Amino acid sequence: MKEKILKELIENKGNFISGQEVSKRLHITRANVWKYIHKLKEEGYEIESVTNKGYRLLAMPDSLDMVYLDFDKEWVIGKEYIYLEEVDSTNEYAKRVASEKPDGTIVLAENQYKGKGRLGREWRSLSGTGIWMSLILKPDILPADAILITQVAAAAVVKGITSVLDCEVKIKWPNDVVIRNKKVCGILTEFSGEIESINYIVVGIGINVNQHSKDFPDEIRDKATSIREYMGKDISRKRIVKETVKYFNQYYLEFLKDQSLKGIIDICKKYSATLHKEVRIIQNGHETIGRAVDLTDRGTLIVEDKKGAEIEIISGEVSVRGLYHYTD
Ligand code: BTN
Repeated sequence: MKEKILKELIENKGNFISGQEVSKRLHITRANVWKYIHKLKEEGYEIESVTNKGYRLLAMPDSLDMVYLDFDKEWVIGKEYIYLEEVDSTNEYAKRVASEKPDGTIVLAENQYKGKGRLGREWRSLSGTGIWMSLILKPDILPADAILITQVAAAAVVKGITSVLDCEVKIKWPNDVVIRNKKVCGILTEFSGEIESINYIVVGIGINVNQHSKDFPDEIRDKATSIREYMGKDISRKRIVKETVKYFNQYYLEFLKDQSLKGIIDICKKYSATLHKEVRIIQNGHETIGRAVDLTDRGTLIVEDKKGAEIEIISGEVSVRGLYHYTD
């Protein structure tokens, strides 16, 4: 009921709505309306109450529990929204429930006590400071194409952040988003399927939003950053979640309709931190140094090696000179 009242207030966009009208619309007593308004205020919602006028929403806290109220009803992504105060890992949770959840379900947690990064690394997920979310997807595509979703996510994150803030974010192919050469977001795509069909894909997105540099462990402090560190002030996580989900929805539907990443790759190219840079690729223990010259429509990276031969890189550890560890 509390959520329904909040929805009424949000839909009234800063105008007053009378207690009587809310009680009529939601079939509850005016005393109950007051009780729920009181609860919302306790949770940090700023609601003005004026006799003979009613209630008016002035500001919302930066809690992510009800961010789905800002989602468009037409979106596939976020139709079902699972909010958890604490979980081991949103990717692990998403995999546990994936079989019974619809395409586009979001799992978001305030705190992950076993956040997972790529290659078995730990993902530091300090409570309330970042955006830790996983999307359960059930697209009708070939298993070999599941990996393409990582590019959809990377494009959605950079567009989501830059539509809210004037922030210099770039994509370090294929999984990271960086600000001034430091990692601000990591993407972990996992999937379950048969030879010819996908059961589900879970795409985990971790965005560092309001951490201070002291919040990062010593060993990654020179490689990791947050949006706050760049902007110099606390940032609303809600707006970034909403915009990232909006763009993810748009690009996901485009990808499914056209069965192509074309438009999405154009965004990845525009925001690339990897293209036209010297890179070091480590695949199966084998190292290649060259120059990143292009991204294909399948999201693979074309690297020109020292002899001028072009190599197509599908995935693997890629270091870009000047980014993270790869320095002279
Ligand atoms: C990486 O760069 O290594 C990938 C990091 C992915 C982190 C996110 S946070 C939400 C989701 N849940 C996890 O346990 N991991 C991903």
